Amino acid sequence: MRVHWSNRRAFIMATAGSAVGLGNIWKFPYMTGTNGGSAFVLVYLLCVALIGLPLMMTEVMLGRRAQRNPVDGMAHLASEAGATQMWKGIGYMGIAAGILILSFYSVVAGWVLDYGLRAAGGGFAGMGAEQAQQQFSSFIGNPYELLLWHTVFMFLTMVVVARGVTSGLERANKIMMPSLVAILLILLGYSMAVGDISRSLDFMFRPDFSRITPTAVLSAMGHSFFTLSLGMGAVMVYGSYLQRHVSIARASFYVVLTDTAVALVAGVTIFAIVFANGLEPAAGPGLIFQTLPIAFGRMPGGTLFATLFFVLVAFAAWTSSISLVEPAVSWLIENTRLDRTRAALLVGGLIWLIGIAVLLSFNAWGEIKLFGLTIFDQLDKLTTNVMLPLGGLLMALFAVWVMRAAHAQEELALNDRHYRRWLFVTRYVAPAAIVLVFLNLVGWLPLV
Ligand code: PHE
Repeated sequence: MRVHWSNRRAFIMATAGSAVGLGNIWKFPYMTGTNGGSAFVLVYLLCVALIGLPLMMTEVMLGRRAQRNPVDGMAHLASEAGATQMWKGIGYMGIAAGILILSFYSVVAGWVLDYGLRAAGGGFAGMGAEQAQQQFSSFIGNPYELLLWHTVFMFLTMVVVARGVTSGLERANKIMMPSLVAILLILLGYSMAVGDISRSLDFMFRPDFSRITPTAVLSAMGHSFFTLSLGMGAVMVYGSYLQRHVSIARASFYVVLTDTAVALVAGVTIFAIVFANGLEPAAGPGLIFQTLPIAFGRMPGGTLFATLFFVLVAFAAWTSSISLVEPAVSWLIENTRLDRTRAALLVGGLIWLIGIAVLLSFNAWGEIKLFGLTIFDQLDKLTTNVMLPLGGLLMALFAVWVMRAAHAQEELALNDRHYRRWLFVTRYVAPAAIVLVFLNLVGWLPLV
């Protein structure tokens, strides 16, 4: 008998816990900055609404119907539909994507831990822009420090995974998610008071179509998958723990809404600080680490708020990282003689090793480049822009072309009108959008 969440709230909290993470607070702001602001935000919002929400429903639906890990789940659903077992490939690709994502995710989560400690020691007091930049570059220049924190974060993740997704995690999510939102709102209030909020809003929301480039479109689409944890089986596994009677549409809607709101608030807050301090919005992955210390360092009670903030971001990362390995671990347990602890150790060890290459790419191996990108950039691009959208595309195609309509409908339990809408979007709109962006990527289709 499979474990199930205790109620709908628990599923929403856990899935929102998976969705809200570094993607919202670290990645979204810096990608908005490097991709020209509002154009990126607009495409991202379109992708979330048109592809993200229907696909979230689809992935939860597949998981709940399958009641298994993503590999065996897809195999089961394929035989139920009388289709080829090749669909299992979705599960395998998801496992691989989760492993590759966590190998850089953990390194960045390590930065967050280190900054939490710096904050607690009052290290940001009175910090200026230049100092903040210097602090960050000397920090990522030191591989030993990065290794230490990467190791700590992987250890924390694997301890929890080894113990299973128990009520402990459910409870942690329930406390941490609202606290994170509260701290974020305090920061927003601060940046409204002293930051350049109007320039920030302008940068993020005033439409400027001249800035829409093919790369920005691809990055925005990829990011909509990343931030919603879609396309790699994490949502599918969580869906497999969802009880029968819960409405998939409503739960998915809340998750998507929460995730988007957190990203937008984080973005507005951070850019207000960036512009007020004459910083560079296109600073890249270091953006929040170079901007937030300045704000915290000047705000009353900054030491406390900064510490809380980084601790909570670490928790947000932690609830996401667990979902990144859950497909791999549940697959190993259900297919080998390994118990949960050994499976976690094995997967965690592999990720830890790949992570070492990632952290070295910020210093000693910074010159090693593949197609002009460092190891960190390559892994990020490969997973976010290719593996997740491809996984999502295949799941959508499976759900509407292979699976029996009655089965999908039984899980989704939508009324007629909503069902037809979901079907139309999942059948045509989402796949066409993903394929168009891919074609554009390989340069067959000149966009703008
Ligand atoms: N959604 C998480 C974030 O935004 C990252 C993630 C991606 C988690 C894919 C699980 C699966 O930080």
